[in-house]
Amino acid sequence: MTRGFGIVGTGVIAAIHADAIAMLPETGLADARLVAVTDVATGPAAAFAAAHGCPAEPDLAALLARRDVDVVCVCVPSGLHAQIAIQAASAGKHLVVEKPIDVSLDAADRLIDAARATGVALTVISQHRFDQGLVELKRLLADGTLGRLLLGEASTKWYRTQAYYESAPWRGTYAMDGGSLMNQGVHYVDLLRWCMGPAAEVTAVCVTQAHQIEVEDTALAVVRFASGAVGTILSSTAAFPGFPQRLEITGTDGTVTVEDGRIVGRAFAGNADPAASAVSADVAGSATVNPGGNPAAIDVASHAAQLADLLDAVDTGREPAVTGESGRAALEIVLAVYESSRTGRPVSLSR
Ligand SMILES: NC(=O)c1ccc[n+]([C@@H]2O[C@H](COP(=O)([O-])OP(=O)(O)OC[C@H]3O[C@@H](n4cnc5c(N)ncnc54)[C@H](O)[C@@H]3O)[C@@H](O)[C@H]2O)c1
Repeated sequence: MTRGFGIVGTGVIAAIHADAIAMLPETGLADARLVAVTDVATGPAAAFAAAHGCPAEPDLAALLARRDVDVVCVCVPSGLHAQIAIQAASAGKHLVVEKPIDVSLDAADRLIDAARATGVALTVISQHRFDQGLVELKRLLADGTLGRLLLGEASTKWYRTQAYYESAPWRGTYAMDGGSLMNQGVHYVDLLRWCMGPAAEVTAVCVTQAHQIEVEDTALAVVRFASGAVGTILSSTAAFPGFPQRLEITGTDGTVTVEDGRIVGRAFAGNADPAASAVSADVAGSATVNPGGNPAAIDVASHAAQLADLLDAVDTGREPAVTGESGRAALEIVLAVYESSRTGRPVSLSR
């Protein structure tokens, strides 16, 4: 059965969703098609629809009234995610919500509750979980190859111009966006938590150094995980020209380093054969774009994999790989970083 997708918000990320939906049947991942889009900016929505071969509906209600829309991709500014997604859930549509889940825990809770109450599936985009290097790292963690986890580092040193922040009124605001950590760093915050387990406490410093924006352009945090392991988070949009996003996980038996979705280093204790510790083609990963300095440079394949995962979850009745709750957990870490920076104190998390 062909699954119909609708996209709400036809800006930068919507193009990746449209391409990912088109990729699903092309790659045999799922039988799906883009049915319709909508945006409050009707002119750009019409142009987007024409480019992707589907109609633009005049408003959200019209898109949600379509019986051939099974899944709604929420691609509006972050502070509107829950508001739009809750309406879509009420219409019985399954939900793909862009990251972050929203910008407040209250909004995230309302969205998660609405999805549960209406029985629709909800996934929050964290496309890098589907990058080949991350899949391989998770396998090594599940096998216990790294031993007991000790240290996890997540680093996003990207560059965004002032013009980027001025390209839309919602960018760089607390109400609709959040800062570097909420927008750009949240990807690797989710990966860090996914690998290391729940965070128990964060201590942080956030600063705004290179842009005229109300939110931070650089955030640094020390994390204590519930397991007793520790870690660091760094996120910046002030690091010219932009560097690979980096995740490094260290356990008692070894360390694995991931950059932009590829494993670039792995070393295991007691492994006498240096070749076995070298990076091999099978774990090198498939990321082909570097988004460090370019907001539109996003690998479509990982989005497609997450959309396919949602459809499989719908078909089989299981939870999606990235749940609303895990989107909320990443948001909780981001908000704890902000609170710690504001108060100058460590902040405990609920887990
Ligand atoms: N997963 C990723 O790698 C990734 C990358 C970029 C952006 N994002 C996320 O995607 C979301 C959108 O970012 P973007 O860069 O595409 O923004 P954008 O400004 O380019 O596009 C947002 C669109 O939403 C529309 N919109 C605003 N309010 C609306 C409403 N009430 N109903 C319908 N449409 C509405 C705007 O007119 C605009 O066209 C953000 O939450 C961002 O964090 C994710």
